[in-house]
This record gives sequence, C-alpha cells and structure tokens, in this order.
Amino acid sequence: MKVLVATDKPFAAVAVNGIRQVVEAAGFELALLEKYTEKAQLLDAVKDANAIIIRSDIIDAEVVEAAKNLKIVVRAGAGYDNIDLAACTAKGIVAMNTPGQNANAVAELALGMMVFMARNQYNGTSGTELMGKKLGIHAYGNVGRNIARVAKGFGMEVCAFDAYVKPEVMQAEGVTPVASVEELYSSCQYLSINIPATPETKKSINHALLTKMPKGAMLVNTARKEVINEEELVKVMEERPDFKYVSDIAPDNKAELLEKFEGRVFFTPKKMGAQTAEANINAGIAAAKQIVGFLKDGVDRFRVN
Ligand code: 3PG
Repeated sequence: MKVLVATDKPFAAVAVNGIRQVVEAAGFELALLEKYTEKAQLLDAVKDANAIIIRSDIIDAEVVEAAKNLKIVVRAGAGYDNIDLAACTAKGIVAMNTPGQNANAVAELALGMMVFMARNQYNGTSGTELMGKKLGIHAYGNVGRNIARVAKGFGMEVCAFDAYVKPEVMQAEGVTPVASVEELYSSCQYLSINIPATPETKKSINHALLTKMPKGAMLVNTARKEVINEEELVKVMEERPDFKYVSDIAPDNKAELLEKFEGRVFFTPKKMGAQTAEANINAGIAAAKQIVGFLKDGVDRFRVN
C-alpha cells in the first residue's frame, strides 16, 4: 500500500518523520510531494497512491479521476472544503479530516493577531489591551473553544454563538451563550470567525452584520476568506474608521484593503494558523493513523462523506 503525503505547504520535518514511522510500521510505503508548483505534479503523484494525506491541497474531480487506486484521502486539519466529496463518494473513496488536532495552534495565532492589532501593529504608538474587552466567538467548535480558553487567560469576557452546541456546554466553560448571530455581532467589540466555508456560510459575514459591531470593532478571521462578503467589508471600513480587520487568509481584494485602510488591516503572507511543529505532528500523525486504521481494520471514524 502506498501512502502519499501531498502538501503544497509542507509539514515540519519532525511531523513527516512521525508520519513515516506510522506508515512504515504498518508495512506501507510513504511517498512525499511537497511544494509542488503545477497541478500536473499532483496528478502524476496520485496515480499509484492508495491513500493521500493533504492540507489545503485541492482534491477535485480531476485529481480523483487520476488517482485510480485511491481508497482514502485524509485532510490533516479541520476544514475539508478543498475536497470534492461528491467526486470521492462516486468513486468509493473515503474522505476524512482530523478535527481538533491543530485547534490550539489556530487559537494562539488568533489571540496573537488581536494583540498585534490592539497594539497598532507594534508601531511604537500607544495601543489598547484585551483585558475586559468582549470577545464573540462565531461557532464554538474545536478552534472556537480553544480561543475561548486562551482569551479568558487575557481577562476577556467571552460570548459565543453556535446553533449546534448546547448553551450548557458553553456555560460550563465560562462562556456566555448568545441566541443569534446578530446578537453576537452587536454585543462584541472583538469578533472571531470560526465557521466553515459551506454554501450556506459563503459571503454570510456582510454589511448588515458587521455594521452592528460596537465602536472599536475588530474582526478576526482564522477560518476561510469565502465566508466574508469582501465588497461589503470594504463599505463597512469606509463608513467606519474605527473598524479593523485581521485575517490569516488573505482576501481576494487584499491589495485594495491594504491601500485604503493602512494600519487597520493585516494579512499573514500564507495561512499559518496550523503552521506549528506541534500542530503538524498532531494532525499529520493523526491522519497517518486514521489511514492505517481504515486500510487495516476498516475504521472510518472522522469520515466526512
Ligand atoms: C484547517 O482547516 O485545518 C486549517 O485551515 C489549516 O490549513 P493548512 O493545513 O493548510 O494550514
């Protein structure tokens, strides 16, 4: 059995070693395709793979078609909007993610970016503190929960909205549940977006919602750019000089935002929420173990199709 690790944005070497150990201990072979520049390289590499570990790499219908021997693809991470699930299902290919494995890394980045923006991007001028500020968490999944934990350490007051999580779960973790997205945005100065990109959520963070945010608003996106209505975000920032936006996923209109709102926006050069040795080890090894478990024993926990 051949397990391919196809990562345009490579894992830390220590994580690749860990993946190799798991794969080889199971008697399987490991192949590595890192930092590829052409889709053709991916199409070629998947030809004889029985299993693939990916990150944000795109597994579309063409890749699925080229991967004639593929049985399973595991997204080492949370969001699997980069996998064409219907194409996988049509070919009997199992798709999985590794929920929670990189959540702390993303949470630490989210809080780090909040401090960075609150301190005026460390430009030497007087900024503000996070303590006592209200943070709204939009979706209380693995990342949202970790952000709440770290934010409480900063002395922030944490609220969350998640239609699928019981209020008691939030309350038990010292988080105030709110009844609607509108209430979350209207009551929190800091807002962390942690929703997945789905047909329902795409462009859902819009002018109507963002204008509700209190004075000194800071929107923090460590989820997906697709959930933001980017044209309407520009409008909000034009109308409100107090509004700041910081994102780990550069928007399509990055150049326009940087030019118009210098000092009020920041984008990491490459999505790096999950770019830590620890997160790479956690997610990469979890992916390798899930592949071994599936190919040897048919275990399909974390299957998403
Ligand atoms: C995720 O969904 O897990 C994150 O977006 C991480 O993506 P990455 O593996 O491409 O860094």
